[in-house]
Amino acid sequence: MKKIEGHRAWFPERVTMPCLQSISALTRRAALLLGALGLMLTFVTTTHAQATRYAGAPPLLLGAAWYPEQWPEAQWDHDLALMQAAHVHLVRIGEFAWSRMEPREGVYDFGWLDRAIAAAARHHIVVVLGTPTAAPPAWLTQKYPDTLRVSEDGVRDEHGNRQQFSFASTRYRRFAHDIAEQMAKRFGHNPDVVGWQLDNEYAADSFDPDAKAQFHAWLQHKYGSIEALNHRWATAYWSQTYDNFEQIPVRADHENPALLLDWKRFVSDTWRSYSLNQIDAIRPHVDPRQFITTNTMGWFDGFDAYTVHQALDIAAWDDYVDTGEDYDWVDNAARHDLARGYKRRNFWVMETQPGFVNWHATNVTLRKGVVRDMAWQAIGHGADAVEYWQWRAAPNGQEEYHGTLVGADGTPVPVYGEIQQVGAEFAKAGAVLAGTTPHAEVAVINDFDSRWAIDFQRHAANFGPVAELKAFYRPLRAQAQVVDVVSAHAPLDGYKLVVAPALNVLTDAEAARLKAYVEHGGHLVLGPRSGMKNADDGLQPQRQPGPLASVLGGRVAQFYALDKAVPVAGEAGQGSATTWAEQLQAQSPQTQVVLRYGKSNGWLDDQPAVLSRRVGKGSITYVGAWLDDGLLDRLTASWLQQADVHAPVPGVPADVEVCVRGDARHQVVILVNHAAAARRVQLPSSMWPVLAEGGASSEVSLMPYGVVVLDSREPAAANR
Ligand code: GLA
Ligand code: GLA
Repeated sequence: MKKIEGHRAWFPERVTMPCLQSISALTRRAALLLGALGLMLTFVTTTHAQATRYAGAPPLLLGAAWYPEQWPEAQWDHDLALMQAAHVHLVRIGEFAWSRMEPREGVYDFGWLDRAIAAAARHHIVVVLGTPTAAPPAWLTQKYPDTLRVSEDGVRDEHGNRQQFSFASTRYRRFAHDIAEQMAKRFGHNPDVVGWQLDNEYAADSFDPDAKAQFHAWLQHKYGSIEALNHRWATAYWSQTYDNFEQIPVRADHENPALLLDWKRFVSDTWRSYSLNQIDAIRPHVDPRQFITTNTMGWFDGFDAYTVHQALDIAAWDDYVDTGEDYDWVDNAARHDLARGYKRRNFWVMETQPGFVNWHATNVTLRKGVVRDMAWQAIGHGADAVEYWQWRAAPNGQEEYHGTLVGADGTPVPVYGEIQQVGAEFAKAGAVLAGTTPHAEVAVINDFDSRWAIDFQRHAANFGPVAELKAFYRPLRAQAQVVDVVSAHAPLDGYKLVVAPALNVLTDAEAARLKAYVEHGGHLVLGPRSGMKNADDGLQPQRQPGPLASVLGGRVAQFYALDKAVPVAGEAGQGSATTWAEQLQAQSPQTQVVLRYGKSNGWLDDQPAVLSRRVGKGSITYVGAWLDDGLLDRLTASWLQQADVHAPVPGVPADVEVCVRGDARHQVVILVNHAAAARRVQLPSSMWPVLAEGGASSEVSLMPYGVVVLDSREPAAANR
């Protein structure tokens, strides 16, 4: 790719997808194909555009984390040339380089960054700048030790390692603001800088005096009076009644669940304001085209990711998998969908592993071919950039064993070739995938309040809220193939089926929205433990599902933690429940018993396990148990059938993942073979290969760990 027209060629366009009103714009042929693929022809208006796009740079960006501060400048060009040869068009730099940018308080040195950015641009590489606040310099923490974080047991961090700052410290925020502002003034109009990453992987909260005082103020602002707090927290319990806000313990464990839930919300708001502190420093000085994000971590629940993303322009996450030659691709699929749900549009993978990491006990590498498989899975789920951590092994430091593309000697390691292939493929497929995004008819609700509330009081040790979410997600992914994961506050109108795996905390407002969704023809499935708690993590005055019990025409008579399997049977077949089983009661003649328990503890024998009720054209279903995979497969099939949702590519082998991205003009199917053996897939109609040469076909062969990208539109049409 040539960089043309000087710097202007790098200016990005924020791409806004037109909402598809009708299919009149489609060619008849394309319409037939879309129909054959069973794909939605009317898009949800809230639907998601490509996260970012830069004229002159490929729409799909391959990138790497580069640390120019670790190397003599004379070596930069050599590294950048190797990046260019691998089709790397993006580097993220600077996120740990504070001591290099501000070697002494108020003394800034950005010349090296100017030169690093310019050197990258000469190799057609754009830059995301990291603010360096995850690694404060020694002069700062030595002179101002009050900026260091304090753990829950009261121990103040020492300087060293990273993330040793307090996220609430007023003084630390002043320094963070200043360094971010200085960077913004310097690079806000630099045409080769496309965006900003704030800090790095927000994680550690702090219990320093600033944080404690802010928590008390936050509670006062929320409740207004201590009496209101006492009432809502039900502090008569264990003599917890407070006379003033300063008395309230600041804890993340072993406390009243109302306090614990509010602490998590306070932490979420504090990370949001931590972001805003830097955004307020950056935004006034930078071109609007430069996005601001931060890199998050999959299922991490230290804060409510929806709250934090309110302040950010795009979502970006760090995709690391559990160690092993293969990876749990369904888990990874769900995490991509989670990230896409933060802004409900395309996202970036800000970091991913070039084979292996260094932080497991045994850091097994992904087998040959699986790094490419993961990269295409990311694109299939709506990523517009995939960035490897890191480019080159650092000469020293805590991560000397981590996977890289290039060794400390500056020459490629074996996985470089595989990533180079990914880069060549991104370049080839970019034009076809530009502006496209997944369009789901099915949504799974991920609710941080509910996850926290269950984890505060699990009752059954194995009831992990994420594992439970994934139990519902897995058959949806297999059968519907395009699935959104969204917050309980997301608009639901565009979905035919909404599944809330364990919506434990259900506020009256959310319940009203879900009820309206069902009454307007939506199909809602609630998993076990749903509707048990109110907004304060107190018990709802009605039994589960609380404010939705009347719509369901049924309720939970009692819940039971299980230490062995319980038989379950009904029209969906036979199977078992483990971990959790609720004895349900139908209270309306229209409420159907879908499954019943068999013989078990006596209480559950012959009692309903799943209830369902039709409401106009919609329905509400309550699943009271953690069901085995086979039963959930069959139930899921019945929910999808009822909601009229069909797989775009039906009948694929279980280890072949189908991803679909589309826009008003066409659909792109990405098939990823997660098996170590070849697979064949029959398409419902002919499609055109994007990566390989050749004509349209309806039969596709996939190599072991193979990837095939297919376009519903013939290449000639794409050029029109
Ligand atoms: C102990 C305590 C009670 C209650 C029960 C719960 O017996 O005295 O207050 O906590 O445990 O099992
Ligand atoms: C995280 C961090 C990176 C690096 C990698 C190593 O994602 O953001 O700085 O430490 O882990 O896997």
